Amino acid sequence: MGYQDVYQSWKSDPEGFWMQAAEAIDWDEKPSKALFEVGDNLYEWFADGKTNTCWNAVDRHVEAGRGGQVAIIYDSPITGTVHKITYSELRNRVARLAGALRAKGIEKGDRVIIYMPMVPEALEAMLACSRLGAIHSVVFGGFAASELAVRIDDAKPKAIIAASCGVEPGRVVHYKPLLDGAIEQATHAPDFCVIFQREQEVAHLEEGRDVDWHGFQYGVEPAECVPVEGNHPAYILYTSGTTGAPKGVIRHTGGHLVALNWSMKNIYNVDPGDVFWAASDVGWVVGHSYICYAPLIHGNTTIVFEGKPIGTPDAGTFWRIISEHNVRSFFTAPTAFRAVKRDDPQGEFVRKYDLSCLKAIYLAGERADPDTIEWAMNVTSKPVYDHWWQTETGWTIAGMPAGIEALPVKIGSPSVPMPGYDVQILDEAGHPMKAGELGAIAVKLPLPPGTLPTLWNAEDRFRKSYLSHFPGYYETGDAGMIDEDGYLYIMARTDDVINVAGHRLSTGGMEEVLAGHPDVAECAVIGVTDQLKGQLPMGFVCLTKGVNRPHEEVAKECVKLVRDKIGPVAAFKLCAVVDRLPKTRSGKILRATMVKIADGEAFKLPATIDDPAILDEIKLALQDMGYAKG
Ligand code: COA
Ligand code: AMP
Repeated sequence: MGYQDVYQSWKSDPEGFWMQAAEAIDWDEKPSKALFEVGDNLYEWFADGKTNTCWNAVDRHVEAGRGGQVAIIYDSPITGTVHKITYSELRNRVARLAGALRAKGIEKGDRVIIYMPMVPEALEAMLACSRLGAIHSVVFGGFAASELAVRIDDAKPKAIIAASCGVEPGRVVHYKPLLDGAIEQATHAPDFCVIFQREQEVAHLEEGRDVDWHGFQYGVEPAECVPVEGNHPAYILYTSGTTGAPKGVIRHTGGHLVALNWSMKNIYNVDPGDVFWAASDVGWVVGHSYICYAPLIHGNTTIVFEGKPIGTPDAGTFWRIISEHNVRSFFTAPTAFRAVKRDDPQGEFVRKYDLSCLKAIYLAGERADPDTIEWAMNVTSKPVYDHWWQTETGWTIAGMPAGIEALPVKIGSPSVPMPGYDVQILDEAGHPMKAGELGAIAVKLPLPPGTLPTLWNAEDRFRKSYLSHFPGYYETGDAGMIDEDGYLYIMARTDDVINVAGHRLSTGGMEEVLAGHPDVAECAVIGVTDQLKGQLPMGFVCLTKGVNRPHEEVAKECVKLVRDKIGPVAAFKLCAVVDRLPKTRSGKILRATMVKIADGEAFKLPATIDDPAILDEIKLALQDMGYAKG
């Protein structure tokens, strides 16, 4: 069957399609049907089945006689380590860790925050939670203590599992003091913390609260897998929205297992036993779905990469790992390739390695610019497939169904909708638009298995953010179009979310931080185009009346404030003090116009602008920062 046949077979019988996909999963109790309508446009998948994620990701492969196969390859050019863990070893390690967590009182439904760098223990912590039916929430290591504190207060974890440190090129990230600071700032206190001591830095343990990762596992009974309902939350992953308060995306167990397993063959075209590599971080959705869960559920070997595309030690790292570990499908973000391309435009490093094992490269996380795709295709001579999805969906909305049929690639498009997604382009009033017309991208409800059913503790926000604008649809927050052949094009976000090096960030969240500076009366943060990271945040602040401090000093403090409050990952380094912000007569800040000026694009003076002269001051400030040229 080709792509059209498969897509039509889903469309004509969605429930039958997903019930068949569910056959590939081990169930303690089979679901009686696929889709459950909760009412009022909320849906759940496989709700009355019972299963366990860890069983499907680990134990069942051992039971099937594949315990000797490598499950995880840890390759850390930063620490000079390569270490392999088989499925049998992984089962034993995870069962023991789960047993220790259980002995400390962790049960089904309890939340556990995981704050760890790219080490295999991060995956083991996730799997140990799944084993018990505990709900993990992984927090990315590049976030600051206050971001961690916000997540602690929202998820209310019984335990936090953290590493003593992370290792970034040229610096050790001191996780433990960040964790201690976050717990101090948070209102909720975990019962205990488990600290994985790394040899690069041994952290102080707080007596009575912190236990040592190895020590607390001593003498415990390994835990078996606890069957949970199909609609039991497997995890919560916080992502940026319009305001500073992150949204807790929930993933239900049953749909997660079924959809991720389906995606491995049909999209990434790998068979059990093949090596699959997603070069991301477990703190992001790509890391949840394609470093940890999907490859393991499908019986692949996954790679935990602790390094960067360049500088660890050079622009050949990706190719070295692909060749050395026999990677068949490789997934990364366009920004990573832009970095490699900048250091190695001619692909000289590529030629040093035998890449015959590699069948295709997948890009996602941000817009893939044609130059980068063409460069990657030229230097590797491999197909390069862009695909589009979000934290909310957990897997591809539109992509290349390479395991079904390799359709023609159209550079600039992430290709076609996957089964499960009825993607429509809508006008402001919610009417479907014609091929080639630009509009809001929406997905007809219900969303497929594996996508978010709601937000943690925030059903109203879920409805308001995603369901209320276009009744009967899920609003993706992206704008774009579909061409005559059914290929989708993603053009821009329709909200305040920006994408910096494939990391999703909220400009609204940064504005909230800047507004907290005692000398700042008003501010705006915009996302400007950057050749390497795709976008960079840029702040404009107006000082409180009577404040007469040097502008550079305040701007520097603002940069530090965002780094301290949100974290280095925000990459907030551009900030200017201006007298006034451009606004409409009704007081709306003209952020989109500022972005156009910064990017040197033509723009129409908004008819409702209050005082056009302010734009000249903004332009000067931008030029001082190296923007708005030409
Ligand atoms: N823990 C602590 N700090 C982290 C971190 C982590 N896990 N990850 C990143 N940071 C820090 C970086 O050290 C950097 O700090 P600095 O301001 O002191 O230099 C800052 O956060 C920004 O990080 P990032 O945007 O990732 O840039 P980088 O300089 O580390 O890397 C590239 C630059 C060019 C290599 C980048 O384009 C890249 O490839 N990033 C990874 C892309 C990716 O995998 N995205 C995931 C989406 S699927
Ligand atoms: P995240 O939730 O961090 O995965 O970010 C999701 C957002 O990143 C999407 O809503 C898009 O705005 C953007 N994005 C992800 N993949 C792509 C892609 N292939 N092309 C264009 N934008 C993308």
